[in-house]
Amino acid sequence: MPKISFFGHACFQVEHNGQKLLFDPFLTDNPQAAVSADELQPDYILVSHGHYDHLGDALDIAKRTGATIITTMDLAAECKKHQVKEHAMNIGVKHYFDFGFVRTTKALHHAGIGSEACGFIVDLDGFTLYFTGDTSLFGDLKLYGAIEKIDLLLLPIGGYYTMDIDDAVYAAKLINAKTIIPFHYNTWPLIKADPHEFAEKVTKNTPSHCIILAPGETVTLS
Ligand code: NI
Ligand code: MN
Repeated sequence: MPKISFFGHACFQVEHNGQKLLFDPFLTDNPQAAVSADELQPDYILVSHGHYDHLGDALDIAKRTGATIITTMDLAAECKKHQVKEHAMNIGVKHYFDFGFVRTTKALHHAGIGSEACGFIVDLDGFTLYFTGDTSLFGDLKLYGAIEKIDLLLLPIGGYYTMDIDDAVYAAKLINAKTIIPFHYNTWPLIKADPHEFAEKVTKNTPSHCIILAPGETVTLS
């Protein structure tokens, strides 16, 4: 069963069948960073968009480990200039890798580099997780919840740059996942949010169950 670690802000690592998928590895200068970028040995790095708090240490980690960066077309082209392995994906499509499939999703957010920000739906032997990336609330979240049965949903709740708690609860209603882990909060004062308030509202308003991970914590999900 997949093991999910939260390293702070928007950085997660998912381990499954001996492979490690690292999401949005912003660790250097991340006040919440629970590991240093040099300690990580991912096989793949999924980058949702080109803002520094998501691209983060991705290029350095990919150079050191040979990990493949999976990201949007424009950001992958930028990564290629740095001689790292990259896999470019159009938004909304599904591609099969050796660990399972990745479907990129729309995200309603500024791209930073290039023209698009994205999220990722990742299927690992029938366990499906959806990392929305940075996004505001938008209607197609319902579509993604309908076409894939989401076991684990990773949602931003900090507001200002992304959904706030109430928008994220509405997104949770649209997506209808089994379990939800919030991220992108309390890194800086501007995105202060109480994850317990989010968890209570999820329990009250949706059939989903919320797990709060402090930076550095790991959970194994079935
Ligand atoms: Ni962003
Ligand atoms: Mn961000």
